[in-house]
Amino acid sequence: MKNLVINMSKFQTPRGMRDLTNEDLRYFDKIRKKCGKVAEFCGFKRIEPPILESTELFKKGTGSNTEIVQKQMYNLKTKGGKQLTLRPEGTPSVVRAYLERGMESLPKPVKLWYFGPFFRHERPQAGRYRQLHQFGFESIGSESWIVDAQIILMFYTILEDLGLKNLVIEINSIGDRSCRPHYNKILLDFLKKKQRFLCPDCKRRLKTNPLRIFDCKNEKCQEIVNQAPQTLNYLCKDCHKHFKNVLETLDELQLPYNLNPYLVRGLDYYTRTVFEIISGSEENEGSLVGGGRYDELVELLGGNETPACGGAAGIERIVSLMKKEGKKMRSLSKANVFLAQVGKLPKRKALILMEEFRKAKIKIVESLHKNSLSTQLKRAGNLGIRYVLIMAQKEILDNKIILKDMKTGKQKKIPIDKVVKEIKKKVK
Ligand code: HAM
Repeated sequence: MKNLVINMSKFQTPRGMRDLTNEDLRYFDKIRKKCGKVAEFCGFKRIEPPILESTELFKKGTGSNTEIVQKQMYNLKTKGGKQLTLRPEGTPSVVRAYLERGMESLPKPVKLWYFGPFFRHERPQAGRYRQLHQFGFESIGSESWIVDAQIILMFYTILEDLGLKNLVIEINSIGDRSCRPHYNKILLDFLKKKQRFLCPDCKRRLKTNPLRIFDCKNEKCQEIVNQAPQTLNYLCKDCHKHFKNVLETLDELQLPYNLNPYLVRGLDYYTRTVFEIISGSEENEGSLVGGGRYDELVELLGGNETPACGGAAGIERIVSLMKKEGKKMRSLSKANVFLAQVGKLPKRKALILMEEFRKAKIKIVESLHKNSLSTQLKRAGNLGIRYVLIMAQKEILDNKIILKDMKTGKQKKIPIDKVVKEIKKKVK
């Protein structure tokens, strides 16, 4: 769809949203295929929760003190007065489905993956859309560090298979309910001393969830955060052991990671391992993948105490990077056959013949809406198609069709029931 003039028509896509064109969707399809293969190999089953969920699910799951819940959700009220939200992320939905569909009784871990649209009312900029697409993997029911490593490896493998280079895994551990409260206290004591330098949002965060201050983009807050106590120094014995095992496995897998003591991630449900995958190349539009362990979320949403781990990748960001790094999608295979027709009966018969070509998996181009033979031959010529089948009134009555070789200019009549076989010999 090159060289299309974009008109300022009366109706336009909402800000931060866009049409996905055929070109974009070829990248999307490739990514989905890759994901599906890796997911199947690793025993993950596909799930697609609805786009709308109860607002309460995200308030509770994602966390009412997060940017997403406070500022970015598209909320609506149904005619019946129910409060629903266009899903801003997938993890609470997957856990809701896990509980609602009785998956708690399945052998653990229950491994699920998804691919679809999400909605966040953010300020649009490069790599930041209001309708974005993610694929995600969620493994529910195991506390083993091997799961964390496997999930990271799956994302890394997919990105690498898509041809992306210079990938780096940023990783940290933010502890669990036994060690985080102590760390929070230490952090709070530190931040209170710097309170007057913090932005208004961070002053509020001091009261709600001090860990959120690490996500603040304000320069002054960043400076303070860079001197703050690090979660890693306050992990309990179990969290420390878990994290050490994750890192040792990444070493074993020879995955390039950067231990980032200030990575906390902007969602409330994380415990222990948190990670992001970024591109080390200059063209960075933010993280490509984000995820981590969420050992308390299932319980928070009404289930039994159940450890879990997962992550999600931003498809727009991956596609953008693939394009910038020169990864082209193979163009659709070219057709070698053109079906021309003249007259009412040939037009109808043409549709029947096309069906036979479709079943034989032979690509064919037509201009069924055209009547003039010369126009149709001209189009076949412009498309560089070698074989033209001409269905004309007289020949059709004899059950014949004309086969014209555009390269040699020669033509011959062949029985209509032999034409697919004849063409197959020439083009396959
Ligand atoms: P997240 O970090 O909010 O995590 O999003 C995951 C990925 O989605 C990001 O790394 C980024 O590539 C992409 N993304 C996020 N916001 C936008 C946006 N506005 N425009 C374009 N791309 C965007 C989650 O969503 C968690 N549910 C991940 C997870 C799964 N954690 C555990 N399981």
